[in-house]
Amino acid sequence: MSGKITASTAPRMASACQRERPYPSQSFLGLSLVALVFLLSTFSDACEEPPTFEAMELIGKPKTYYEVGERVDYTCRKGFYYVPPLATHTICDQNHTWLPVSDEPCYRKICPFIRYPLHGKTIYANGSNAYGYQLHFVCDEGFYLIGTPILYCKLEGINAVWSSKAPVCEKILCSPPPKIKNGKYTFSDIEVFEYLEAVTYSCDPAPGPDQFSLVGESQLYCSDNAVWSSDAPECKVVKCPFPVLNNGKQISGFAKKFFYNAMVMFQCDEGFYLNGSDTVVCDSNSTWQPPIPTCLKALLPPSTKLPTLSHSVSTPSSTKSPITSVSGPKPTHPTKPPVSNYPGYPNPDEELFNINNLDDWVIALIVIVVIVGVAVICVGLYKCLQSRKKGKAEVRAEYTACQSKSATPAEQTI
Ligand SMILES: *[C@@H]1O[C@H](CO)[C@@H](O)[C@H](O)[C@H]1NC(C)=O
Ligand SMILES: *[C@@H]1O[C@H](CO)[C@@H](O)[C@H](O)[C@H]1NC(C)=O
Ligand SMILES: *[C@@H]1O[C@H](CO)[C@@H](O)[C@H](O)[C@H]1NC(C)=O
Ligand SMILES: *[C@@H]1O[C@H](CO)[C@@H](O)[C@H](O)[C@H]1NC(C)=O
Repeated sequence: MSGKITASTAPRMASACQRERPYPSQSFLGLSLVALVFLLSTFSDACEEPPTFEAMELIGKPKTYYEVGERVDYTCRKGFYYVPPLATHTICDQNHTWLPVSDEPCYRKICPFIRYPLHGKTIYANGSNAYGYQLHFVCDEGFYLIGTPILYCKLEGINAVWSSKAPVCEKILCSPPPKIKNGKYTFSDIEVFEYLEAVTYSCDPAPGPDQFSLVGESQLYCSDNAVWSSDAPECKVVKCPFPVLNNGKQISGFAKKFFYNAMVMFQCDEGFYLNGSDTVVCDSNSTWQPPIPTCLKALLPPSTKLPTLSHSVSTPSSTKSPITSVSGPKPTHPTKPPVSNYPGYPNPDEELFNINNLDDWVIALIVIVVIVGVAVICVGLYKCLQSRKKGKAEVRAEYTACQSKSATPAEQTI
């Protein structure tokens, strides 16, 4: 370690020197010092810090440098105990190595064994009841745990003990469920309910003209931790206003009064389309959910070519959308896409023709490009040949001209 430290700090010093006095001889000296230290540390026989272990620790403080032949001793850590005969010491050998040693002779201390609780079981989460490990408790179905579900094996003085008392598993029993206004539940004379035993709520007959509705879960059962499966329901008058739709009509769910969960469906008159949901339900606050829709005037008169076309592609009843489900034999909204947009319905006229037309244009364009291209190449070739023929003649002419001209200027420069 010492070698490493000097080796790593020395370059910093050398570079500092360089900054102050940037002379080559100085930096060379520094570098060679670094190299020397590094070599010394590499080839020395000394050992660095001895190995560390989970179950045992060094006696005394570790040093950064150990001579060859030096011995270090270990002892078992807190919570562990020594079992002979393996050695717990090692010696610094040649080649910077410590003779092999392990913490196998140190064993974890053991917490007292705990039996399964009645109506439950124990789980040794880390494999055993040894120091540092956890013990989990789980109760059987129909029973619930009273106490701490997880114990830790810890040290108290020199002994390993559990962090708390073992929990117990108690039979799940529920006290009677809540009583409600304007209603009652079955088995109301029973004082104690066992696990999974259930009661059913119902509402009293109404004193006035409107009946009570049961809002919430009607059946409750005694469940885990001795609590009922849900809150008690409510018995109250739920009455939604009479559904009115301008430019449309109700097509199902006819009644004089609309109580809790009443469902109503609508349809718009011819020439109108539905904005909103075609189905609404009376909720517990006496309001329609979603709100009652409106019928809006269709922008196109219903006598265009759309009806016959859309008839042939009218979507099956399974794909029910608020708009299509109310459109009767004639569609009453103008937003339906044209038939030709539907897959498998190629419109025999316009669109097909347009597509063919486009193809024709593309082909024509390609042909033109090819013809022009060939023409350009031909012209290019022709010109090339011509210039070659001419070129030979010109070169010859130039060469003779050069010879006669260059004689005088070239001699001048020399
Ligand atoms: C030093 O140790 C290395 C690896 O641990 C090993 O390969 C080498 O043979 C050893 N050299 C000597 C002289 O023991
Ligand atoms: C013991 O097991 C628990 C649960 O599996 C885990 O969270 C914990 O880290 C383990 N402890 C040890 C010391 O292995
Ligand atoms: C449809 O109803 C919604 C909400 O009820 C409203 O915001 C929207 O403007 C309506 N659409 C038209 C076209 O009136
Ligand atoms: C009824 O109204 C209350 C208070 O306005 C609200 O908290 C509750 O969510 C409503 N219930 C429903 C089913 O809309």
